[in-house]
Amino acid sequence: MELHGITKRFPGVVANYDIALTVRKGTVHALVGENGAGKSTLMKILYGMQKPDEGTITIDGTTVTFSSPADAIARGIGMVHQHFMLADNLTVMENIVLGGEKLYGIGPKARKKIMEISDAYHLNARPDVLVEELGVADRQRVEILKVLYRGAHTLILDEPTAVLVPQEVDALFDNLRELKSEGLTVIFISHKLREVLSVADEITVIRRGTTVGTADPAHTTTKQLAELMVGSELPSPETRDSTVTDVPMLRVEDLHLNAVDSDGVVREVLAAISFTIHKGEILGIAGVEGNGQAELVEAVMGMRDPDGGVITLDTTDISHAPTRKRRESGVGYIPEDRHRHGLLLEAPLWENRILGHVTERPNSKHGFLDLKAARKDTERIVREYDVRTPGIDVTAASLSGGNQQKLIVGREMSHTPKLLIAAHPTRGVDVGAQAQIWDQIREARRNGLAVLLISADLDELIGLSDTLRVMYRGRLVADADPATITPEQLGSAMTGAASGRLEHAPEDEAR
Ligand SMILES: Nc1ncnc2c1ncn2[C@@H]1O[C@H](COP(=O)(O)OP(=O)(O)OP(=O)(O)O)[C@@H](O)[C@H]1O
Ligand SMILES: [Mg+2]
Repeated sequence: MELHGITKRFPGVVANYDIALTVRKGTVHALVGENGAGKSTLMKILYGMQKPDEGTITIDGTTVTFSSPADAIARGIGMVHQHFMLADNLTVMENIVLGGEKLYGIGPKARKKIMEISDAYHLNARPDVLVEELGVADRQRVEILKVLYRGAHTLILDEPTAVLVPQEVDALFDNLRELKSEGLTVIFISHKLREVLSVADEITVIRRGTTVGTADPAHTTTKQLAELMVGSELPSPETRDSTVTDVPMLRVEDLHLNAVDSDGVVREVLAAISFTIHKGEILGIAGVEGNGQAELVEAVMGMRDPDGGVITLDTTDISHAPTRKRRESGVGYIPEDRHRHGLLLEAPLWENRILGHVTERPNSKHGFLDLKAARKDTERIVREYDVRTPGIDVTAASLSGGNQQKLIVGREMSHTPKLLIAAHPTRGVDVGAQAQIWDQIREARRNGLAVLLISADLDELIGLSDTLRVMYRGRLVADADPATITPEQLGSAMTGAASGRLEHAPEDEAR
């Protein structure tokens, strides 16, 4: 497959400029580049979702033009997006068949086909389960299955690993290798350069909209790759220094939360959760997604009412206080899903800057919205957090994924919170921006910020946290010292294989 001279302009932005990309059949081809470099746009063009202003796409020697995804699918190209697009209230099978009814009908033939594909690539499909009951890794497999069901021989995966924990990433990569061995082609986008080097056969680097080169994973380091992306040397990360005080900022005592299943059974979602986060402390919670981390965040934010226990912020009992009250008393919130809780996608950036902070300075003065100040402050955030955008009047939807994330982090940090609830704060941001966000969080911690950190990125958890706890099936089952713990140890505790105090075993080092 060859893309040649691809250019795509949006108002005020050249998203792609004179792109050249060659992908060989039966390979895993990685696409890397900074946030806003133009990766997703290029893939949407290849998938027929966007029309290029210039350039050609050649497949097997034939030049093609796609005016819709249906055209791309007919040519064997399928795409799994940065944000999944499944219908929660339908079953796995319904989701896969939806829109592809003509292929194998909706009955036994379709089911047989699904199971065949699932078995061939070890995708573990459970056709009759509702999608809403699946974790992220399973949802992703459904998306991949959906694409294969339509006969794709080239799969485009946009940041498939951003939402996965390490074990799930390994499983996905096994799937990809399997696809490859059957002669299928995979194009995938990732900011996790170590992963890119481990799974890709070839790498193409995009910088500011254009391809700047290719790299051979066998002879490239993550550092070299990062520098190719940025076009200059990266600053080295700062060293660890403890700022933990003995003043409690958030105390959670014996928290319980129940949920009622679709079949009416009461299930324990959180059980006997107790921890304290002090001023100047980052508490990291590790866990495979779906073990209660999201619910813990929602209970602390006031989006779920606990069935037992006490949550104390500073010295105030906030166990049942409304979300708005908690925010106003200095709780910053970086949500897990930036589209559901973090942004109004169709609203301009400056409105998104106000979102959740309407009554606070500088957005409000004497109880009235201060539009001028809010706009000015939006411009400051765009500058300080390096949000790549032509201006503050464009919609949040038009920003690239990583730039949307930077805007949220900038907004939440701007109100000098006492407590920051950060769920995957750097999900989807590039390595440079990630280092910058980490520095900003550390800087605020030095000034007394307390942070509850949830992350699927073990390097982030280990690198940022002062204290580490592991969550498994709604309970905090293990704790560890981030200074000595290894990602492998943490990973095994996350699957429930280890509990209690995770000590660093000296023989590990000897090996
Ligand atoms: N629909 C759109 N309207 C206007 N501008 C857009 C639109 N889609 C993308 N852009 C702009 O095009 C540029 C490239 O965006 P793209 O989403 O391709 O980046 P990316 O490389 O995928 O970044 P990330 O790593 O953050 O996902 C950005 O400046 C973005 O703001
Ligand atoms: Mg993108």
